[in-house]
Amino acid sequence: MSGQSWFFALKDSDLKDGNMKFVRVKGNPVLLIRKNKVIYSLSGKCKHMGCRLSKGTFSDEFILKCPCHGWEYDIRSGKYLGEKDEVLEVYENKVEDGEILVYL
Ligand code: FES
Repeated sequence: MSGQSWFFALKDSDLKDGNMKFVRVKGNPVLLIRKNKVIYSLSGKCKHMGCRLSKGTFSDEFILKCPCHGWEYDIRSGKYLGEKDEVLEVYENKVEDGEILVYL
């Protein structure tokens, strides 16, 4: 009913640990980050004014900082770490046959 399904996002070998990659899945901006061997997939568009988060910086502490005005998000939950109650969409992912798939 919801129309959700698994879609190819990136080859597994193209995402190294500690790195992030920006992809489009069904036209949606998706950010893939691999940290400590876990893959996080979330919306690549900042909740503030829509800047591309893939141009942002990613710290050791699971924090992604938007390049435009510095909004920070926790990549595990997508939660904005400031005063406002904003959350980036987080997508499920899995690796199958060397491909990273996301559910959206
Ligand atoms: S657009 Fe991301 S902080 Fe302003």
